[in-house]
Amino acid sequence: MSLRGRNFVNVTDFSNREIEQVLELGLELKTRYQAGIRDEPLRGKTLGMLFQKPSLRTRASFEVAMNQLGGNALYMGPAEVGMGEREAVDDVAMVVSGYFDVICARTFGHDIVEQLAEHASVPVINALSAGEHPCQALADLLTLREWRGDLRGLKVTYVGDGNNVAISLALACAKVGANFAIAAPNGFDLPEECVERFKQEAQFTGSKIEQANTPEEVAPGTHAFYTDVWTSMGQEEERERRLKAFEGFCITEKLCALGEDAIVLHCLPAHYGEEIEHDVTRGPRSAIWDQAHNRLHAQKALLALVTP
Ligand code: CP
Ligand code: NVA
Repeated sequence: MSLRGRNFVNVTDFSNREIEQVLELGLELKTRYQAGIRDEPLRGKTLGMLFQKPSLRTRASFEVAMNQLGGNALYMGPAEVGMGEREAVDDVAMVVSGYFDVICARTFGHDIVEQLAEHASVPVINALSAGEHPCQALADLLTLREWRGDLRGLKVTYVGDGNNVAISLALACAKVGANFAIAAPNGFDLPEECVERFKQEAQFTGSKIEQANTPEEVAPGTHAFYTDVWTSMGQEEERERRLKAFEGFCITEKLCALGEDAIVLHCLPAHYGEEIEHDVTRGPRSAIWDQAHNRLHAQKALLALVTP
């Protein structure tokens, strides 16, 4: 089945084969661009970017992706659209479908990006919601493939909050046959629904999931450690409580030494001295900068495949 015209709101919107297709094209487009070959399959097409929250990587990489593919991107930030406040989400979706060929949206509630997808007549891509960050997960898989080769049987260990990034990463691992471990304090683990979904996907790929309350428990055998901020956008009022709850859930050199020649990933932005030590991000294990750059290559493939 073709990806043309399809939404990408949740990692599980794509089959295992389709995720593979995006990764393969992402790597191919990266190699070709770096060799000076210019592919412009989206000439004359426009990506509409509806963002309710700030962004560095996602905004920049989507805009550059469209430019490199020969198209254009139009960014509209929180002050402009007022999705769900100034105007109903379904109205926004129906209006902008007449201007844009494809939409990406960064929203507070996951229901908002789902509503956009339901009512837009062009594909909608989730550029981060409270529920998922599927484009991040594509870049994560691309980076794992570049740094560790075959994804099947890799152990990816996430240390920290069972948030949007952790959910998409876990489900992406389940899709490609990688194993996923998470160490989170009590009350901050992956939602049960995500664990259930992981297990359903794993029936086809053999992926295993491990859950623990200390990083040291899940560190042995790890090929890639991963973390994200303890307080996500929209949770700022919980910061003090979270700072206390997550104490010790930090990626340090000592923790990494417990893995199998492990690499380190972080979706960024980072809070140094909280979820990760500064030195680890600058050391030889760090794939973090490639990971950030791979947002561009993964999204180029995604846009090229879904845009009608
Ligand atoms: N990783 C990520 O999505 O970064 P931004 O919030 O800067 O887009
Ligand atoms: N979990 C973070 C990811 C930022 C890229 C957030 O939602 O703010």
